[in-house]
Amino acid sequence: MRILVLGSGAREHAIITALLREDAGHHIVAAPGNAGIARQVEVVHLDPSNGAVVSEYALENDIELVVVGPEAPLVAGVAEALRNRGIPVFGPGKKAAALEGSKTFAKRIMTEAGVPTGRATRVGTLDEALAVLDDFGSPYVIKADGLAAGKGVIVTDDRDAAVEHATYWLQHGPILLEEFLDGPEVSLFFISDGHAVVPLSPAQDYKRLLDGDGGPNTGGMGAYSPLPWLADRFGSEKDFIDEVLDTVAVPTVRQLETEGTPFIGLLYAGLVLTEQGIRVIEFNARFGDPETQVVLPRLLTPLSGLLHAAATGALGNFESPRFSPTAAVTVVLASEGYPEAAISGRPLSGLDDALAVAGVHIAHAATAKLDDALVATGGRVLSVVAEGSDFAEARGRAYEALSKIGLDGGQYRHDIAERVAR
Ligand code: AMP
Ligand code: GLY
Repeated sequence: MRILVLGSGAREHAIITALLREDAGHHIVAAPGNAGIARQVEVVHLDPSNGAVVSEYALENDIELVVVGPEAPLVAGVAEALRNRGIPVFGPGKKAAALEGSKTFAKRIMTEAGVPTGRATRVGTLDEALAVLDDFGSPYVIKADGLAAGKGVIVTDDRDAAVEHATYWLQHGPILLEEFLDGPEVSLFFISDGHAVVPLSPAQDYKRLLDGDGGPNTGGMGAYSPLPWLADRFGSEKDFIDEVLDTVAVPTVRQLETEGTPFIGLLYAGLVLTEQGIRVIEFNARFGDPETQVVLPRLLTPLSGLLHAAATGALGNFESPRFSPTAAVTVVLASEGYPEAAISGRPLSGLDDALAVAGVHIAHAATAKLDDALVATGGRVLSVVAEGSDFAEARGRAYEALSKIGLDGGQYRHDIAERVAR
C-alpha cells in the first residue's frame, strides 16, 4: 500500500515502524518526518496542516491511505479536505476532532451519550471561577478550553496557584473547572470507521516531568503496556476493555454519528479508575504519545489493514486486534528546560550503542541531522522503547539503552514501569 503519514514525532515514528514491521512492501512517505524517520522511509516537506497541499500531494503520488498523526492537522480540517477528494484517510474531520480540540464540546458529547466523567463547569470570569473552585474544593483542576499542548491544565492543592492559573487562561477565553478524579490513570485507544469500534491494548502514561509524579505536566515522559494490575480490579484485562468499550467508546462514536459528524480514526480515552467507577478525564482524536510507542510493538494484527478498514468504512468485518503478551516500556528523553523552554541544538550521541541492547528500538521525535551529526531540536527528543518477556526485563533494557545516550542537560524519569517490574 502507498501510505502517507503526517507528523514528525515519536508517535509517527512508532506508526511507521509498525507498518514496516508487517513486511508487506508498503511504500511509506512521511511529511515532514524527522531524522529517525528519514533513515527508514521517504520524507517530504509538506505542511501537514494544509489540506489543499496534502490532497494535491496524495493525488499526484497515488497515495492509498493517509494517516494523520497529530491533533493540529485534524483540528485544522485536513482529514475532511482529503476525504472530500476521495482519498482514504485515517483521522476524524474537524467537527469530530473537537472531541480533543474543545473540552466543552467533549463534555457535551459525554453528557448526551451518558458517558461517565467528572463534574465540570465552564466559566468566563474570575468571580465565577472562585465560586466554583470553592464548591468543588481541593485539589483544584483547571483547564484551558482549546489545544494548549499540555500546558493548559493545572491540578493543585494550592489555591493561590489555582487562582493564578485561572486568571492567566481567562485572558484567552472561558476556562473549565473540574471535580478532581482520584485513582490510577489508564489510556485506552479505539479505532473506529465512524460506526464500528475496535479496542487496542491499554497503556499507562507518566504525565509529570519528575520521578514520583512531581513537577509540571508534560506531553508524557514514559509509558508501559499492558497493565497487569487491571486483572486484580476487573477480573481480567478483557473485562476492563469491554466495560470501556460499552460505556465509553461505543456511546461516544454513536453520538457523533447521530450528529452527522462521524468519528473516523483513533479515539483516545484518558480514564481514571475511581472508587466509584471508570471516569473519562479527556478524549483525544489521535494516537497518544508516548503510549503508541508501547502499544503498537505488541500489536500482532497488521496495522495497515486496521487503519485502511477504518478509513474506508470496512471495520465491521474486522475481529478485535490481537496483541502479544510481552511487556513493553518506553522512556522519553527530553531536552534541558522542557517543558517550559526547551534548549535546542545540542548534539546527541550513543544511539547505535543504545540500539545494540537486545529488544530495544528508538522512536525519534525532535531530532535533525546537522552535517553528519544528530542534534536535538526540541522538548521531547526521542523515546527509547524496550520489549521483554516481563517488565523487569523490558525496563532493564530501556534504562541500559538510555545510559548509553549522550545529550547535555538531557532529562528523563527513572521510575517508569517501576511498580510493575518488581
Ligand atoms: P488533560 O489535558 O485533560 O488530559 O489533563 C492532563 C492531566 O491532568 C491528566 O492526565 C491528569 O493527570 C490530570 N487531570 C486532568 N483532569 C483531572 C481531573 N479531573 N482529576 C484529576 N486529575 C486530572
Ligand atoms: N500521552 C498523552 C497524549 O498523547 O495526549
